[in-house]
Amino acid sequence: MRKKLIAGNWKMNGLKADAKALATAIFAKATSDMHFDMLVCPPMNVLGFVAELPHTGVFVGAQDVAETVKLNGAFTGDVSAHMVHDLGATWTLVGHSERRQYHHETDAIVKQKAINAITEGLTTVICIGETLAERDAGKAVEVVRRQTRECVPAEATAENCVIAYEPVWAIGTGKVPTTADVAEIHAAVRDELAQVLGAEKAENMRILYGGSVKPENAKELLNVDNVDGALIGGASLKADSFWAIAEAVK
Ligand code: 13P
Repeated sequence: MRKKLIAGNWKMNGLKADAKALATAIFAKATSDMHFDMLVCPPMNVLGFVAELPHTGVFVGAQDVAETVKLNGAFTGDVSAHMVHDLGATWTLVGHSERRQYHHETDAIVKQKAINAITEGLTTVICIGETLAERDAGKAVEVVRRQTRECVPAEATAENCVIAYEPVWAIGTGKVPTTADVAEIHAAVRDELAQVLGAEKAENMRILYGGSVKPENAKELLNVDNVDGALIGGASLKADSFWAIAEAVK
């Protein structure tokens, strides 16, 4: 049984006071014996600060790590997986579409970041997903299969790696794919994982859905075959809506 994971990506939101209020409200409801896992990914400015708050039952992760394999060095503006770990975080996202879009991150870069994170002991959420143009061209399955093949490193296991399918056109738009479309993509990703990592690892690895997940649609999306949780942007910025989504987990 894959335990569902409810993950919040705060993106570039949160000054110290906001982050403290949001994290404290989220952490207050969590316990160590929940039937789902919970993760919050604050921005780098408050990551260490949030990780130092008592957070039983909730993992704290970064949104990105540096591409270089070096633990430190002349890489202005970058933060290595080693530094993220030192801040007290135990997870990270890599390959979010906003990184791919605004920072021109390729599948090869995303794979290297995943290797760096896994090597450092961080559980790594690898984000994939097609653009609207790719979906309209009938290429969604082909794109996510390619991203899975190119981004997931041989070191990945069901324990240290999670995949997040986030169609770019569904992020922050209020649009969501049909449940049939989500099921088709998640099945294709699991099939591709089996080819990359073998059937057993593929069967146990969690595949999240992300893109306009809200309390109103959470139940339906979380019940789709092969959907093992959600990666949430906007609705993770309020403790009430983040928890309402988590409470939709059966
Ligand atoms: P929204 O939930 O705001 O659509 O964002 C999804 C996302 O990009 C999470 O990583």
